[in-house]
Formats: sequence, structure tokens, C-alpha cells
Amino acid sequence: MRSMNRIGSARRVALAFGSLCLACGSAEQEPAPPPPGPEAAAPAATPAPDPAVAALRDQARAIFGVLPSEAPNPNNPSTPQKVDLGRMLFYENRITLSQQLSCNSCHQLDNYGVDGEPTSPGHKGQRGDRNSPTVFNAALHIAQFWDGRAADVEEQAKGPVLNPVEMAMPAEAEVILVLKSIPGYAPLFAAAFPDSAADPIHFDNMALAIGAFERGLLTPAPFDAFLEGDDAALSMEQRAGLTTFIQTGCITCHNGATIGGRMYQKLGLVEPYPTDDTGREKLTGNEADRFVFKVPSLRNVAKTGPWFHDGSVASLDEAIQLMAKHQLGKTLTEAEVSSIRAFLDSLTGEVDARYAAPPELPPSGPETPGPRES
Ligand code: HEC
Ligand code: HEC
Repeated sequence: MRSMNRIGSARRVALAFGSLCLACGSAEQEPAPPPPGPEAAAPAATPAPDPAVAALRDQARAIFGVLPSEAPNPNNPSTPQKVDLGRMLFYENRITLSQQLSCNSCHQLDNYGVDGEPTSPGHKGQRGDRNSPTVFNAALHIAQFWDGRAADVEEQAKGPVLNPVEMAMPAEAEVILVLKSIPGYAPLFAAAFPDSAADPIHFDNMALAIGAFERGLLTPAPFDAFLEGDDAALSMEQRAGLTTFIQTGCITCHNGATIGGRMYQKLGLVEPYPTDDTGREKLTGNEADRFVFKVPSLRNVAKTGPWFHDGSVASLDEAIQLMAKHQLGKTLTEAEVSSIRAFLDSLTGEVDARYAAPPELPPSGPETPGPRES
């Protein structure tokens, strides 16, 4: 399914959406307000609803959808105890070999969940070959990582701790040894996992707690307020940009409430894109998956550069232009690029600073190992 030829479906989607609203959103076409009638005289402060904006909203609601207020996982029900523990583990640097890194080093929660680097320095400064994506709203994606190799945030959370170029712990058992040596964690794990009370400090539970915390990292944006009925949440330029984004065909891949994150697509679908990273082919061994990646979410994209799977694109304007060229075979004018960028700015959301703030971590015990190089 994911590796089907995508040009056909791209056309179909573009056609289906393209006919709905060709005129909405652009500055000249804003119609004059209706003449004041008897009913318009009543509440002076409420501007008359603009039918062109309403039509754009209806169209956008059909393509995207408001960011949900939660991202639940029935297999990992959230409790305040689990979320609080997950937050601590997200910031916990003692579960890395050098004890100098944590999840937050590469996914900085006070920086839209990224570190701003093309690729991230991990254990002893080693770098992997992919850019660190943001953890905000990631729980809503169909799968995790650029190539979707982990099913959900719970499964994903087990990876970096043991990855030799990331947190570099040699084995699950050593992670558990560290957590058990920190006396404060025993009651916290017991409260978060009452069903495994006999031995709650377990690698799977660590990942479940981190996942539960990540499921709360959602960032509602002005675009959501617009979808919910607030015309003024987007500037006229941003509404025009939304129309440009739709009409250019970006929505073929970047759709749904996360504006991406819902499907796999070939990078270089129309015009080959130069990269050594073969994407999902490495995972599936299937030639049809060569250069296929998860379509990234565009929420907060203005804040999560540098862009692309290898972090090689340093400007958002360039990312937009490259997308048009390689994914759609189009060359955009400068005005179209800045129009789309204005829309993308409206996807920059609000981080709940209290939820994301670093918690106080329980102190080490006498048995807690110190930092190691290898
Ligand atoms: C040294 C930097 C580094 C550290 C430390 C790190 N990550 Fe990541 N993270 C990355 C990179 C790089 C990727 C993308 C790798 C890929 O796709 O192949 C990634 C991907 C992810 C994703 C997938 C997001 C998406 O949109 O697909 C999530 C979620 C995530 N990390 C959470 C975590 C958690 C939780 C921890 C701590 C247990 C952590 N990371 C530690 C660098 C890091
Ligand atoms: C055929 C599917 C498809 C279409 C159409 C498409 N994209 Fe993408 N987009 C992707 C994929 C796949 C990636 C990931 C690229 C990579 O792996 O480096 C991506 C990445 C991006 C990124 C970088 C995100 C990041 O976090 O690094 C931006 C920005 C973007 N697209 C914007 C757009 C815009 C704007 C349009 C319309 C002009 C568009 N895309 C059209 C599939 C598509």
C-alpha cells in the first residue's frame, strides 16, 4: 500500500480538493461586508462573518482537522503518576553511559523539541546520519523515526538508550541497575505501574512511562483556532498561504491534523532527490521502498530546522522550493514560497511550559554508578 505509485493518487487528491475553493483566501477577493440590516445593528463589536473565509475553513477542515487535545494509547493508559515518572526519565542523564545526555539533549523541550543541529552529537560527540525530529505531536504519527521503524512512542523510547552513538548504555540490565540504585525511583515506578508491583522497575515500564509523557506533548497552534472558527487567528497573508499550500498540491502528502506524519512517500517522487540514505528500503529490503520516508508533520516546522532527514537544508524557503520541485515537479515563484511560509508559521504552536519543564530528579544512592566512557 505505502509503496504504490503515488503520482496517480497525488493527482486524484489534488483534483478532489482543488475544485472546492479556487477563490478563497486571497486579499483582493475578500468581499465587502454586507450592507447593515436590522440584525447587523445589534452587537457592534462582532464583525460580519466573511463567506470566503468560511469556505476556506470548511475546505481546510476536510483536509486537515484540529489537533486533538490528547493522543491516547489504549495499551498504555495515562495516569498522572506515569506521566510524572516519564517526564523525569526524559530528563534523566544517569541512564546514559557518559551521564551527560538525556532525551532532552537532542529533543530540547524548551526549543520545540529539537536541538537545531543538522545531526545530533550523541555519546562522545558521535553523530548519527539523521536529523533529530521534534518530539512534540510525534505520538500522533503513524509510526516513529524518519523511516517509521518503531510503531509508536513507547517502542521508540527503548531505542536511543541502547544506541551506541546516542545514549550508549550497553544493555537493558545496566539501565535497570542504574534505576534501581536510585532509591527515589522505586516508589515512583510502583505508583506508576501498580499492576507490576512485584518488580516495577523494568525496561518496558521505563519506555511506557516516557511514552505516556510524550503523549502529552501537543502544541495547539493559531491554525487550530482558525479551524475552530476564529477568522482572525490567521492573518490575511496566512489564509492566502493556506490556499497556496492546498492548490500547489502539498496536501497530497501533508494532510490530517498533524499536516503530515500519516503516510510514507518517496523523497524525489517526481524528480530524483540526491541522497545516500535509502530510507525504508533499509528496513524492508524492498526496492520499491528506496528513498521512501515518513512524510514529516509540519507542525512547528518554522522552529525545527535545519530540515530534511539529513538536516542538510538550512532555510525553510529552500525546503519549500525543494519540495515543490522534487515532489510535485513545480517551480514556485518567490511570492508563492513566502505565501506558503506564512501559512507554515501559523502551525507554530503553544508549548505547555509547565508540563514540559525539567522536574527535580531523585538523588543517586550509594550504589549508583558514575559516568563511564565505554
Ligand atoms: C543523541 C541524540 C538523541 C538522543 C539522546 C535521543 N534522540 Fe530521539 N531521535 C534522535 C534522532 C537522530 C532521531 C531520528 C532517527 C531516525 O529517524 O533514524 C530521533 C527520533 C526520535 C523520535 C521519533 C520522532 C518522529 O517524528 O518520528 C522520538 C519520539 C524520539 N526520538 C524520542 C526520544 C526519547 C524518548 C529519547 C530518550 C529516551 C531520545 N529520543 C533520545 C536523536 C536523539
Ligand atoms: C509526494 C509527497 C509530498 C509532497 C507532495 C510534499 N511533500 Fe513535503 N515532505 C515529503 C517527505 C517524504 C518529506 C521528508 C523528506 C526527507 O526525508 O528528507 C517532506 C519534508 C518536508 C519538509 C521538511 C520537514 C522537516 O521537518 O524537515 C517541508 C518543510 C515540507 N515537506 C513542505 C512541503 C511543501 C510546502 C510542499 C508543497 C510545495 C510539500 N512539502 C509537498 C513529502 C511530500
